[in-house]
Amino acid sequence: MSQKQNILLDKLPKHIAIIMDGNGRWAKGKGKFRIFGHQNGVKAVRETAEACAELGVQYLTLYAFSTENWSRPKEEINALMELLVSTIRKETPTLMKNGIRLQSIGNREDLPVKCRAELEESIRETEKNTRMTLVLALSYSAKWDIVNSVKEIAKQVNEGLIKPEAIDENIINTHLSTSAYPHPELMIRTSGEQRISNFLLWEIAYSELYFSPKLWPDFTKEDLFEAIINYQNRERRFGKTSEQMAQ
Ligand code: FPP
Repeated sequence: MSQKQNILLDKLPKHIAIIMDGNGRWAKGKGKFRIFGHQNGVKAVRETAEACAELGVQYLTLYAFSTENWSRPKEEINALMELLVSTIRKETPTLMKNGIRLQSIGNREDLPVKCRAELEESIRETEKNTRMTLVLALSYSAKWDIVNSVKEIAKQVNEGLIKPEAIDENIINTHLSTSAYPHPELMIRTSGEQRISNFLLWEIAYSELYFSPKLWPDFTKEDLFEAIINYQNRERRFGKTSEQMAQ
């Protein structure tokens, strides 16, 4: 029986972020090349995006390629970029049909021209969709984003537009590439690894973390439902006491 009916729709996270991990191990377990795992990971991307849209989650951010992933073998990088191009091309009509807006965070300038062009075309095509926003983190790392934010603020201080003493959380927030999105209430990582790997470090200050033992290609809608139910059973205190939260 599906766990879907056990989800409290009035306590749904607005934003879920996912570290999709385990594609390589999944492929290795089947005696295949790593890219076979990435190809099968696309199915889990589709399932997760569909489930989030059906439930009413407004933002889904997927860690698809980190700044550090550029140091992987050239063949794996090329195959992953090709996969991104073909997936974005193939899935854009589905995004349109489901009212999903595509966005990206990360250094687009690092991406191969074809990949960047396909991404930007899909972003343009889907920009008016309002049901859900799907954010792909591509050539992204949180430290890269924070460094850029600091540089931008320093420039504005230099130009006399901001006073150093006026710098606060809000100013830093507005200079991050995630500034248009609420911070994720729930972050999921698959494959049993329990680390953050330079993903959304600033934004997850108060996120609930959920680690699934499933390898990403095996991650299904039901696994997502389980993560959301687990999140809904937690008490989020934001530094306060239980008693204060009950008031
Ligand atoms: C991590 O598994 C996965 C990635 C670095 C890539 C994720 C990409 C996809 C699922 C394909 C396309 C995605 C979109 C959004 C179109 P890993 O290779 O680190 O696995 P391992 O830890 O088992 O080696």
